[in-house]
Amino acid sequence: MGVSRRTLLGGAVALTGAAVALRAPWVADATAPTTTASPFTLGVASGDPTPDGVVLWTRLAPDPLAPDGLGGMPSRPVLVEWEVAADAGFRAPLARGSAVARAEDAHAVHVEVAGLRPAAEHFYRFRVGTEISPVGRARTAPAPGARVDRFAFAIASCQSRPDGYYNAHAAIARDDLDLVAWLGDYIYESAAVGVPGRAHLPAREAVSLADYRLRHGQYRSDPDLQAAHAAAPWAVTIDDHDVENNWAGDVSQVDDEPDNDPAVFRARRADAYRAFWEHMPLRRAQRPQGPEMRMHRRLTFGDLLDLHLLDTRRYRTDQDPKRPRDRARTMLGAEQRAWLTTALAGPTARWNALGQQVFFSPRDLTAGPATGLDEDSWDDCAAERDALRDHLVAARTPNPVILTGDVHAAHACDVRADFTDPSSRVVATELVTTSISSGGNGSARGAGDAALLAENPHIRFVDRRRGYVRNVVTPREWRADFQVLDTVSTRGAPARTATSVVIPDGDPGARA
Ligand SMILES: [Fe+2]
Repeated sequence: MGVSRRTLLGGAVALTGAAVALRAPWVADATAPTTTASPFTLGVASGDPTPDGVVLWTRLAPDPLAPDGLGGMPSRPVLVEWEVAADAGFRAPLARGSAVARAEDAHAVHVEVAGLRPAAEHFYRFRVGTEISPVGRARTAPAPGARVDRFAFAIASCQSRPDGYYNAHAAIARDDLDLVAWLGDYIYESAAVGVPGRAHLPAREAVSLADYRLRHGQYRSDPDLQAAHAAAPWAVTIDDHDVENNWAGDVSQVDDEPDNDPAVFRARRADAYRAFWEHMPLRRAQRPQGPEMRMHRRLTFGDLLDLHLLDTRRYRTDQDPKRPRDRARTMLGAEQRAWLTTALAGPTARWNALGQQVFFSPRDLTAGPATGLDEDSWDDCAAERDALRDHLVAARTPNPVILTGDVHAAHACDVRADFTDPSSRVVATELVTTSISSGGNGSARGAGDAALLAENPHIRFVDRRRGYVRNVVTPREWRADFQVLDTVSTRGAPARTATSVVIPDGDPGARA
C-alpha cells in the first residue's frame, strides 16, 4: 500500500489539531522552554495501534515533582516536533509533524499518527528546541482481516510504587511484545513515595488535580516503567485506585467523607480522569469531558485477535453489602453492555479477549458449606455476569478469553456453562494477572489457597507473587505465561515463568 510522503505530512498537520505550520525536521526555532533541564524526564509512550497508525505521547516536565503539578514548565504553549521512522537511527523517516503542548494539559501531547504501514515496526521521538526525547518503538496493528500468525502481548495491572520496584516492567520491556494491555491501578491515590528534599509531596490521599498530576509524575519517573512504555504500544483502561479505592458510579467508597456527596465525588473524578488522560497514550475519543470518559473500545489485530477493553467502575451499581444482590445490579451499565454484546455477536477475530478489571469467575472465599463472596467482583453482579457468559455461548463468539486485574494474584479459571455444576461445559477462559508491585513480594501460595482451590474447582491455578502475564496468540493456540518475580524489594530481579496455560483453538479452559 503506497502512501506518499506528502500525504503523510499533510495528515500529520491535520492531526495535530492546531494551526502550526509544518517545518523541516528539527529546526531549532520552536518555542523552547526557558529551563535548561531536559523536558523529557517522563519518557515517551505509544498506544491504541490501528493498521495505519498509533498514538504518540510525551509530557514536557523538566521537574516532574514541582509542587504545583505542572512539571516545572512555564504557563505558555510549547511547540513539540515529532518524527516516525522505520529504523531506530531515523535514517528512513516516514512521518513527522508538530504539536502544541499546553499548560492546561500539563504540557502533555497526544499525536494520532496516521498513514503508516500495517503490522510494521516503527520508531518515534520528540524534540523541543535542542532537546531530543528517548526513542520509542511501536508496531502498527495488522490490516483488517489479514492473516496473523503470531501476536504477543502482556496483561498487567496494579503498580503501587511504595510497595516495590518495577522489575516486572523491566521484563516486559525485554519481551519483544506487540502490545501491553494495562488493566488498571496505574497509580494509587492512597500512598505517596517519600523523596528526600521534597516535603510537599502529598503524604495524604490524592484528591486534587495537582495531587493526581504529581502522583502520575512521580510514578512515571521510574526508568523501568518508561522502558516498558518505550518498548511497545499500550492499550490502557482504568480501575478504582486511579481515582479512589472501590468507587462505583457516582459513589465514593467512604460514606462519612465529604466526597460521598455525588457532586463532590464527580469533581474529584474529573480531576483524576484529567490527570490520567494527560499521562496515557490515549486517543481524543477517550479524552474526558469533566467527570465522563469513554474507556470501552475495541482494538482489532487482523483475523487473529479482538481486544475489548472495558470499564467496570464508572457505570456500576454501588458496592453496598446492605443492598440485595438482585438482577438490577450492573457492572457495565446499559450502554456499555449493549455495545459489548453487539460487538461479540458480530463478525469477530479468531480470539476474543475482554480486558477488564474485577474477578469474573465465581469465588467462594469461605471454607466449608457456607458461601462467602467478594463484593468487589462480578459475584456482586452475578445475573449480569451469567447473562454475558450465556451471550458468548448463544452468539457463538469464537474463543472468549477474559483478562482480569485488580486482585494482586495470578489465577487461571475455567468459565463453565453452569457455575453451580462442575461437570458442565467449559465455555470460556479467565486469565487473571497479578500486580506489578502492589502488596509487596507475596509468595507462590497464600495460607488460604488450598481451601480456595478446593472450594472452587474451576480455579485451576493461583500464584501470589508479583509479575504479569505474557500471552502468545497463534491461530492454533493461546499460550499464557504467568511471569513471576522472586522480589520487588530490590531493583533488577529477573522474571521467570511460574506456569504456562495453553488454550487450544476452539477448546476453552485453563490447562496448566
Ligand atoms: Fe490494585
